[in-house]
Amino acid sequence: MEVEILKNYFTEQTNFFKGISPFEIIKEYGSPLYVYNESILRQRCREMKNFITYPNFSVNYSTKANSNLELLKIVREEGLNADAMSPGEIYVLLAAGFKPEQIFYISNNVSAEEMKYAIEKGIILSADSLSQLELYGKLNPGGKVAVRFNPGVGAGHHEKVVTAGKKTKFGVNMDYISEVKEILKRYDLKLVGINQHIGSLFMEGKPYIEGVKSLLDIAKQFDDLEFVDLGGGFGIPYRKQEGQERLELKEFGSKLDQVLKDWIREYGKDITFKIEPGRYIVAECSVLLGTVHSIKNNYGVTYAGTDIGFNVLARPVMYDSHHDIEVYREGKLLKSTESDKPVYVVGNICESGDILAKDRMLPELKEGDILGIMDAGAYGYSMSSNYNNRLRPAEVLIRENGSISLIRRRDTLEDLMRNFDVDSGA
Ligand code: LLP
Repeated sequence: MEVEILKNYFTEQTNFFKGISPFEIIKEYGSPLYVYNESILRQRCREMKNFITYPNFSVNYSTKANSNLELLKIVREEGLNADAMSPGEIYVLLAAGFKPEQIFYISNNVSAEEMKYAIEKGIILSADSLSQLELYGKLNPGGKVAVRFNPGVGAGHHEKVVTAGKKTKFGVNMDYISEVKEILKRYDLKLVGINQHIGSLFMEGKPYIEGVKSLLDIAKQFDDLEFVDLGGGFGIPYRKQEGQERLELKEFGSKLDQVLKDWIREYGKDITFKIEPGRYIVAECSVLLGTVHSIKNNYGVTYAGTDIGFNVLARPVMYDSHHDIEVYREGKLLKSTESDKPVYVVGNICESGDILAKDRMLPELKEGDILGIMDAGAYGYSMSSNYNNRLRPAEVLIRENGSISLIRRRDTLEDLMRNFDVDSGA
């Protein structure tokens, strides 16, 4: 008997597949495939809703992490509101049943048409620069607006996802508060809220609370706010197999509660506090399944060639992100043993950078094995593409009662031709 290496297997611990074998799922819906678990999604929504005790608290799910219509409906049922980053996200949120007043449009460098889209729908927009605030004033004088500030500090798991600080494009520099006030006055705009987002994926609350304090200092300088949006970025443990701890929410929440309550006392008026988690809500409710199609050794390196190219999951290539991997063979989860071998898990895209995992210690892989890529629900499908004219995968949902349903079909070859039905003049 091989000596087993002790690891945490997320799908086993959470009964993720509810007794359905990944093989059966792939047989029915094809590979690769995003599989979602409704119970986990609902649980994460509830954790965020209970994060603090301050009563006027709104959790705005950040749609960019995953905009599947069925998942959005569940998030809405759980009582969350939503953030949108584009008219496309607004469109799908409305289709999922969110009311305009439940949507906050955090815009960045948008056109007049995009602003008008939000204004006509009655959705509050946050302007990201003085020039965009000015444009908003021209389009909607006398209207309500929010402004995103950049408190000069940021945080995040990779420089590409640090969204505040002195070297990012986001938010209005704190030194421009008087210019903001001038524009508000000139166009008779009512500043209903201010917001920030310092960056994505923090695993301890301290930098977030520091960011909140800076934002609240700015908020003090505006008399009549209805809300302050503190941003998202709540991290999840991507290295669960090695026992990585979760973000500790209890003490973090009570510290934040205290900061907010103290501030309200000073401000003298109750306002709403919002947060904007994306990843925390959806990352862990999905396992991306794929198939091993080839095994080869090139000059000493073993490659397992799969159908999970970076058109399906871009995070490892884009940010060097780690995703735990489980292996399923003959209907069963294959556990790690002392004879695990290092392997490069790669996709089927014509680029040498198409690598899902480097030197990963896994049971020796074979053609036909199914791989489960953990924590794939956030920025997985939403960042997928048709690069190499590959078809984006389907998405299925395992319901709380254990039934499984298709919630987005796989692209078809015809889909690739969809936008050519134009008169090209030829
Ligand atoms: N609010 C704003 C204004 C944001 O820009 C973002 C994410 C969020 C909220 C949600 O952040 P979260 O809670 O999900 O960390 N594609 C990258 C992450 C990019 C995040 C961009 N902004 C990744 O896969 O790690």
